Amino acid sequence: MAIILGIESSCDETGVAIYSHENGLIANKIYTQIPLHQEYGGVVPELASRDHIKRIIPLIDEAIKEANINKTDINAISYTNGPGLNGALLVGSGVAVSIGYALNIPVIPIHHMEGHLLSTLLSDDNIEAPFIALLVSGGHSQIIKVTQIGEYELIGDTLDDAAGEAFDKTAKMLGLPYPGGKYIAELALKAKHDIYNLPRPMLHSKDLQMSFSGLKTAVLTLINTLTKNQTILDEATKANLSLSIEEAITDVLVSKIELASKITGIKKVVISGGVSSNLKLRNKFDKISQLKTYYPPLKFCTDNGAMIAIAGAIRYNLRKYDYKFNVKPRFKLTELDKIP
Ligand SMILES: Nc1ncnc2c1ncn2[C@@H]1O[C@H](COP(=O)(O)OP(=O)(O)OP(=O)(O)O)[C@@H](O)[C@H]1O
Ligand SMILES: [Mg+2]
Repeated sequence: MAIILGIESSCDETGVAIYSHENGLIANKIYTQIPLHQEYGGVVPELASRDHIKRIIPLIDEAIKEANINKTDINAISYTNGPGLNGALLVGSGVAVSIGYALNIPVIPIHHMEGHLLSTLLSDDNIEAPFIALLVSGGHSQIIKVTQIGEYELIGDTLDDAAGEAFDKTAKMLGLPYPGGKYIAELALKAKHDIYNLPRPMLHSKDLQMSFSGLKTAVLTLINTLTKNQTILDEATKANLSLSIEEAITDVLVSKIELASKITGIKKVVISGGVSSNLKLRNKFDKISQLKTYYPPLKFCTDNGAMIAIAGAIRYNLRKYDYKFNVKPRFKLTELDKIP
């Protein structure tokens, strides 16, 4: 039995959470930098690192208070060591390693995408491997065959943009704020039909590869045509375009997972990462009777400390005392140590 402090700082959210083997998640604190980066239309790495440094210690103090424990009750610290922005990762790593050294407790590096994958365990569902994981976030669109927790085989990937990136880039074309996925989803609710019927890239490719950059180009071409006689798109057109974008992206994801299930014979699916908060996507999956699909609670779909804390709690038995700054801005999920 142990209490784990989890730290996430790979991109634009400072997340701190505390997970107890006995009582589950006992604290969860998050500071999002989205407003800070919004005026630039995307994440500015240097600003991200500087802000993580400002927020991280106060958030840790708040989390310890929320959990109603003392610092010395913490048995281990887990932190995201990659993939992500180098400077941002170094903040979490530096703080985790320093606290671990001071308290003489294990420090457990966590792969950010394993965090997303395991965030589903923060729901009430009892999920047991084997299952297929669809990791759909701002930087990833991956299909993973999970034989057991810690054993990951990459069976599908995007050739170019991630699904979240496709939402964000097309949202930008519509003049929506960053990150655009949730704004597309909100606007799509105001449209009735998928009137533009955008391309579903690689839908019939018979493999698990995906590609979203063609969709981006199709949206740009369509916007150029629609704005020929006017300078800006009206709200109704933006809503129709949003629905068509959402339909196209979610159709591809659903179809690739149906194929993955056919190929592997596995009928359980875990969907996580920021795009898994998309309700249309969830609806489409829930309608497929041959599949049983699991999702993280909505607040744990985008980056958070809770997923790093629970991943740390699971990897605690590795007992790694790793007091090195150990960040890997590029890091494959398939390179992880197996859990004994
Ligand atoms: N309701 C929604 N519908 C579609 N996309 C959404 C929704 N909510 C959030 N997203 C998308 O989720 C992404 C952010 O998710 P997340 O925080 O998991 O990604 P990330 O951490 O930036 O990327 P990675 O985990 O690959 O490093 C953004 O691209 C955002 O537009
Ligand atoms: Mg993420």
